[in-house]
Amino acid sequence: MTSAQDHQPLTGEPHEVSRIGVVLVAAGRGERLGAGKPKAFVELGGRTLVEHCLRTVTSLPSGGHLVIVVPEHLAGETLRLVAAAEPTGANWEVSVTPGGRERHESVKFGVDALPEYADVVLVHDAARPLTPAALFARVAAEVRRTTDAVIPALPVVDTLKRVGADSIVHETVDRAPLVAVQTPQGFPRELLAAAHDRLGTGAHDDAADHPTDDAEVVQRAGGTVRTVPGESLAHKLTTPGDLALLEALLAAQNGDAR
Ligand code: CTP
Ligand code: MG
Repeated sequence: MTSAQDHQPLTGEPHEVSRIGVVLVAAGRGERLGAGKPKAFVELGGRTLVEHCLRTVTSLPSGGHLVIVVPEHLAGETLRLVAAAEPTGANWEVSVTPGGRERHESVKFGVDALPEYADVVLVHDAARPLTPAALFARVAAEVRRTTDAVIPALPVVDTLKRVGADSIVHETVDRAPLVAVQTPQGFPRELLAAAHDRLGTGAHDDAADHPTDDAEVVQRAGGTVRTVPGESLAHKLTTPGDLALLEALLAAQNGDAR
């Protein structure tokens, strides 16, 4: 917390204290999509996934710092995309930094690149290009309200079965307590940074031991993780089938806007 909050200034810049840090992780290889280039640089409706997320984040009225974490060889191209983006008028700074071999390393490098003032950090997958700005705002507000980690979650709608390696169904799983989680995931900066420091960088020998989201990293370090309602528009591009789905969602969105 800054002294500005302690003293409640009558004049000055009250939003300085509420500017957020956003880490946009875009350094994956996109192997399951198999587009011949990293997934975040694939186009959807004539724009790369990185550009979609850049526009959404910099439309947030809080302002803050967005760090885009990319494969090292694409840093120059990313800086060009940022320079070519329309100025949004909001109080946003944007920087680009190289990622790591695993997602959690990319997140750590991104958090390390944020300026000091970012006391709330949202971590977002570039692979979720249609995530609405309202979801970023919802997560950030809940982090400020609770000072816990906050993740968007949607109820699971399909019937779930536990299946053996022999493809035989063992049992139906009660889905009532289960949710599917998305990004952006939000954290008090100190909580996230300390949890990532505990995990360290470098490949973990056992692939099953890789945390697949930041909430898992924070939970392993003993932090409390809360949920807020997610958005179906925050769907992740993972396989070629998701591309068709996201294109349909984008078309529906553009239709709504007309
Ligand atoms: N990511 C990252 N650095 C890594 C791995 C992943 O920044 N070393 C990012 C991806 O760019 C993506 C997000 O984390 O935006 C979610 O990861 P995932 O969907 O697994 O993307 P990829 O790792 O690119 O895809 P794949 O696992 O199919 O190779
Ligand atoms: Mg991956």
